Amino acid sequence: MNSLPSLVLAFLVIVLQVLDSAVICNGGKTSTYVRKVEKTVDMPLDSDVFGVPPGYNAPQQVHLTQGDHVGKAVIVSWVTEDEPGSSTVVYWSENSKEKKKAKGKFNIYRFFNYTSGFIHHCTIRNLEYNTKYYYVVGVDHTMRKFWFTTPPGVGPNVPYTFGLIGDLGQSFDSNRTLTHYEQNPVKGEAVLFVGDLSYADNYPNHDNVRWDTWGRFTERVVAYQPWIWTAGNHEIDFAPEIGETEPFKPYMHRYHVPYQASNSTAPFWYSIKRASAYIIVLSSYSAYGKYTPQYKWLEEELPKVNRSETPWLIVLMHSPWYNSYNYHYMEGETMRVMYEPWFVQYKVDVVFAGHVHAYERTERISNIAYNIVNGLCTPVKDQSAPVYITIGDGGNIEGLANNMTEPQPAYSAYREASFGHAIFDIKNKTHAYYSWHRNHDGYAVEADSMWFFNRYWHPVDESSASQ
Ligand SMILES: [Fe+2]
Repeated sequence: MNSLPSLVLAFLVIVLQVLDSAVICNGGKTSTYVRKVEKTVDMPLDSDVFGVPPGYNAPQQVHLTQGDHVGKAVIVSWVTEDEPGSSTVVYWSENSKEKKKAKGKFNIYRFFNYTSGFIHHCTIRNLEYNTKYYYVVGVDHTMRKFWFTTPPGVGPNVPYTFGLIGDLGQSFDSNRTLTHYEQNPVKGEAVLFVGDLSYADNYPNHDNVRWDTWGRFTERVVAYQPWIWTAGNHEIDFAPEIGETEPFKPYMHRYHVPYQASNSTAPFWYSIKRASAYIIVLSSYSAYGKYTPQYKWLEEELPKVNRSETPWLIVLMHSPWYNSYNYHYMEGETMRVMYEPWFVQYKVDVVFAGHVHAYERTERISNIAYNIVNGLCTPVKDQSAPVYITIGDGGNIEGLANNMTEPQPAYSAYREASFGHAIFDIKNKTHAYYSWHRNHDGYAVEADSMWFFNRYWHPVDESSASQ
């Protein structure tokens, strides 16, 4: 009589053990750190970080991004307010002192009752790798000088350090995030920005003055190192109620990317190589279904990635596929259904997304077994799958996402509702050190960290490795 319950019990134990090894049953960690609840407030227009540089028609909002597919070109962009002035950049390498010129172009745009300044874009090409360059924009008395360092040549064992920032905005918290990134003792050499830049669209009529203030606010970093741009929902600026029906209009005029260099037909999805990394930028807000331009591009793009040349395959997108906060829940689901099998097939190392204003890192998991008939809809451990990191915690005006689904899903390794940034520090073709830094700590403190093992060259389970 007693043997039946014990048999049932034994059976249950075995089932649980099988489940534990096949599916992940143990939830990850929800940080015990609870940030003091305070309102996220935008910095006022007269803040010093928004200051207009002195001098007639002085170039402002200077920013850089990579200008070609391999890192030998840079796009320099800036705005002049009074008259077009010059679109030429004068530049010279630290070693040669011979001054060269690159000629750019300018454009303007209108948005409801706002007219932009003169927005200049100039691509400097044929740069030497691993070289410091000085550059000057503006003319006569209002020239401004900056500098940048080109990346090392593309190759498999080239160390390189990326910063990660998302959903930055222009609040007092945004300013803290940027300062923490600047002050981090591990110096990011370029930023992978996962979308939602200025949040100008939170203002009446999408007050585009807030695009200008954002450009001046971020200049102190992005005039000196390239930021790799991803389009977020706050870049759409679709406002038919005020006659603005051209999606992405301010973003497209202000932030250029080298999409044609990777045979993309639109600036919202493209790729670059930088040092030992291959970075694919995708658009959550452009069509991605089968037969669409983005789908066809990605289908042709992934087989081109040569892991012997660029071991690290990194994908950026705005809306996360895996997110256990009660915000934007499953907004990324349809794109996941379309592309996740490819990410597993091509062994993407890591996917960075934003959109949710908090931090989360997943285990290596996939959810590609599902179809309507079999009902297999639970993410499972998968050593060919990427780690998914949500880093939409730049600090914008909309505030923190601090409401999480409970219990923490098994696939979620670490989550915390704090503002911050991260560093992805590639050491060689097998190892990269990743760390996340919350704004409320000292500059060097790591609130979360992980050694990444490259999925192509060293596909060992990191969760079982000693850290
Ligand atoms: Fe967003």
